[in-house]
Amino acid sequence: MSTERASHTATVETYVQSHLAPEDPSLVNARDNTIKHGIPAIELSANQGKFLSLLASCSGARNVLELGTLGGYSSIWLARAVKFTGGKITSIEINPDRREVAIQNLRSAGLKVPEEVDVVLGAGLAVLPRLEEEIQRGERGRFDFVFIDADWPNQWNYFNYGVKLANGRGSVIFVDNVVQAMLDYGHVGPEEKDTSVAPLVEEAAKGGRVEAVVMQAVGAKRYDGFLMAVVK
Ligand SMILES: C[S@@+](CC[C@H](N)C(=O)[O-])C[C@H]1O[C@@H](n2cnc3c(N)ncnc32)[C@H](O)[C@@H]1O
Repeated sequence: MSTERASHTATVETYVQSHLAPEDPSLVNARDNTIKHGIPAIELSANQGKFLSLLASCSGARNVLELGTLGGYSSIWLARAVKFTGGKITSIEINPDRREVAIQNLRSAGLKVPEEVDVVLGAGLAVLPRLEEEIQRGERGRFDFVFIDADWPNQWNYFNYGVKLANGRGSVIFVDNVVQAMLDYGHVGPEEKDTSVAPLVEEAAKGGRVEAVVMQAVGAKRYDGFLMAVVK
């Protein structure tokens, strides 16, 4: 990739987004209302939201699990993917103020909370075992699509839970920000290796549970990438 061409990534993203992923008033409101409440603007871009939504749609997902709600921006994109399958999003958020703002934004977007999008308060690693118990008791369904976008050191833990709670063959696990995380924790590149964080890519390769790939990406925000896995 030429450096000169890479300098146009923001312009390309804006151009593509204006034609293929324009934000409607509900998405604009979710973004603006989140910022108005002093919450950092670390949600997906509209292009990324559209990509995630198309992916969930074409995988036929009904029951979706999200880790990291923030202001509900990506939850709205996911909810649109399952609208016609009568599906539901369960999203986990550790921060109570963010959860409240997300609920406001979801309701403003015409979504029923908790019927269509349930925002569960708590740390991912505390909530996931509860969800597992509920599944085992037959009180909730397994997940067809898992979107992981919370704290990076736990990406591998969430991934393993995602596989465990998945709805069998063909279920999708999608993890955002994996390239920045693998560079930050020294799994590749010049940083000193952080041995407390298991390398997600190596975890995903273990045990023949999934077929997975990491795609590096550039966008308006920065260089990063995602891991996508399909349960075997
Ligand atoms: C990058 S943001 C999520 C963005 C959101 N998916 C979107 O695109 O609109 C990450 C969120 O994960 C939450 N978070 C961080 N650690 C968490 C944990 N241990 N359990 C659950 N949520 C966590 C943060 O409070 C933050 O709101």
